[in-house]
Amino acid sequence: MAENAPGLAPAAGPAGALARPRVGWWRRTLAGAFWDAYASVYDGLPRHFRPYSMQLARVVDHVKARHRPGSARVLDAGCGTGNYVTALSKVGYEVVGIDRAPWMLSRARLKAALNRPWEGNGVAPATFCRASLTDNLPFADSSFDCVISINALYMLNFPEVALGEFKRVIRPGGTLILSHPRRMPGLGEIMRDHAKRFGVASVLCPLFTFGALGFFNWVISRNFRRGGYFCWSEGELRDAVGGSGFAVEKVEQVYACQSNHLLLAVRQKDGAPPRR
Ligand SMILES: C[S@@+](CC[C@H](N)C(=O)[O-])C[C@H]1O[C@@H](n2cnc3c(N)ncnc32)[C@H](O)[C@@H]1O
Repeated sequence: MAENAPGLAPAAGPAGALARPRVGWWRRTLAGAFWDAYASVYDGLPRHFRPYSMQLARVVDHVKARHRPGSARVLDAGCGTGNYVTALSKVGYEVVGIDRAPWMLSRARLKAALNRPWEGNGVAPATFCRASLTDNLPFADSSFDCVISINALYMLNFPEVALGEFKRVIRPGGTLILSHPRRMPGLGEIMRDHAKRFGVASVLCPLFTFGALGFFNWVISRNFRRGGYFCWSEGELRDAVGGSGFAVEKVEQVYACQSNHLLLAVRQKDGAPPRR
């Protein structure tokens, strides 16, 4: 697995871009423990942090604009506590969520089991499985109509491995939707922006939740500053996705302080020329 533990610089890359790096067990454990611990407060985001719910709604709209509910299968790669899985399941998609962190996954499973969002819309229940985006994904070729991956690629040393796997599991003509940071705003800037856009009460009432989320985001932003996690410019994102066998349709600016790119791309037929 190639992800970095928070606070650590990336491992030296291997010569071949798609070669699998070797990362020691302690680094994997540290990275895993961080995301597992974050699971305990993560759902403060959909409850109180408006840019999170706005991005979620926009992703659901994009999926609906491209795939008819009831007949499409969606993979959420790096699903965290399953908020996107639940939302897509609710509007009629058969959704599979994968993540590497067991505690993130248990919360996702619990949420889905309690809400049963698929009920009444005639699609298969959402399923979850533990898998890493740096390994071969446990799915057959062309087995999804759409893959979404929201804020998960930025921690991988070799995101092209994940992009290659996304291409393999999406059918030709299917959709890739990625959210990836273009910059990492500080906590103060994020809170000021939230208060300005949604009112001071929107940050004062859930202050305790924001404090806990703020701690985890401080660790994440520290890791960005130290080079363990990475942002991409729009050009870099287009190059990476276009070079992995997708035709990029559009890139929008979303999330807190417009800090993320939301990219939509179509999986091309094998052998098609790159289109960024
Ligand atoms: C910032 S969270 C985003 C979660 C979810 N997509 C959302 O927007 O709510 C990043 C997620 O990526 C997961 N993750 C980190 N490295 C991973 C890897 N190598 N393979 C799969 N998931 C990974 C973490 O466990 C975490 O749940």
